[in-house]
Amino acid sequence: MADNKKIDDISGTETTGHEWDGIEELNTPMPRWWLWVFYACILWAIVYAILMPSIPFFNSHFKGLLGSSDRAAVINAVDSMHAERAVYANKLEGATLEQIQADPDLFRFAMASGKSAFGDNCATCHGSGAQGFKGYPNLNDDIWLWGGTFEDIQHTLTVGIRAAHEDTRMGLMQAYGRDELLTRDQIRDLTQYVLNLSGQATDQNAAGRVSELFQDTCSSCHGSTGKGDPSQGAPNLSDAEWLYGGSAEDIYQTIYGGRQGVMPNWNERLAPETITALSVYVHALGGGEDTPKLDLSKQPIMEGEE
Ligand code: HEC
Ligand code: HEC
Repeated sequence: MADNKKIDDISGTETTGHEWDGIEELNTPMPRWWLWVFYACILWAIVYAILMPSIPFFNSHFKGLLGSSDRAAVINAVDSMHAERAVYANKLEGATLEQIQADPDLFRFAMASGKSAFGDNCATCHGSGAQGFKGYPNLNDDIWLWGGTFEDIQHTLTVGIRAAHEDTRMGLMQAYGRDELLTRDQIRDLTQYVLNLSGQATDQNAAGRVSELFQDTCSSCHGSTGKGDPSQGAPNLSDAEWLYGGSAEDIYQTIYGGRQGVMPNWNERLAPETITALSVYVHALGGGEDTPKLDLSKQPIMEGEE
């Protein structure tokens, strides 16, 4: 074999002896640095396989001398997150808004977990931005059917509205047309009366005809000037903001059939601290009553939320 070795004249390198049509293959050795890296990789692989979980056998695997486990690391991380959350959750339960706002970390936690609980439980009806839909109130504005203090909101969430809870919020406007308590003409005129409360009537005479009827039939809930009554969930009819639509047709339908929107009571589905967190969140969204409106842009609370 050694005899076959030839030295290429031009490069001075040994050839492999292979030759095709006069073209010969040079036998150039691997560079040193490359070889060392190659050996180092082999060594690293052996050490790694001994220290870390590596070789599979049957339905288990070699665990490695260091006993390292990604699964255990995740479990530990989740445990410590739960422990951290439990501290905040305990503080939230039964806390007043003042106490929560006085503790910036707690407030931040309440806003973040309120926001995520809102996405999971409330967005289907109220919209992901709490903007509401026809029949489902907008929670971003400062118009409240049942009151907008922190305690009001917390109570609304706990007992629901026309829901299964025995103390649920209840205000039942009759179906004046369907149950034949009023004639269609009366309802048509009352529609104009209601529109007139926000200066939108197209038929002042019609509105005038039923002002006594409104006082007799409607004012017990909506008030003599139509300003509404949060203790009965009766909307303000004079603000040109409508839960069920503000066209003459919508208002006619409301008076004719009643509406009786239902919101579930959440006390059976959500933990008390979650209801508290949601109340903090909804209160802040809508510029809740009884507290100065929070300027969210000046609070570092929106960081790190999902
Ligand atoms: C099944 C639909 C539905 C879901 C889900 C729902 N709501 Fe409601 N919610 C309503 C309806 C309908 C009303 C208005 C009822 C009425 O008074 O006529 C309402 C009213 C409210 C009010 C009272 C608003 C006011 O002006 O006083 C608050 C606060 C509220 N919801 C918050 C929530 C929160 C927070 C969640 C999630 C935990 C939620 N809602 C989930 C349907 C829903
Ligand atoms: C027992 C209390 C009660 C009485 C009496 C009552 N309402 Fe209502 N009204 C309500 C409640 C509560 C709502 C909220 C809608 C719902 O979910 O039922 C409402 C809603 C309305 C709305 C819809 C407002 C909106 O934002 O879309 C109109 C309009 C209205 N009422 C007109 C009347 C008129 C006109 C009368 C008299 C014929 C009347 N109501 C009598 C309780 C009452």
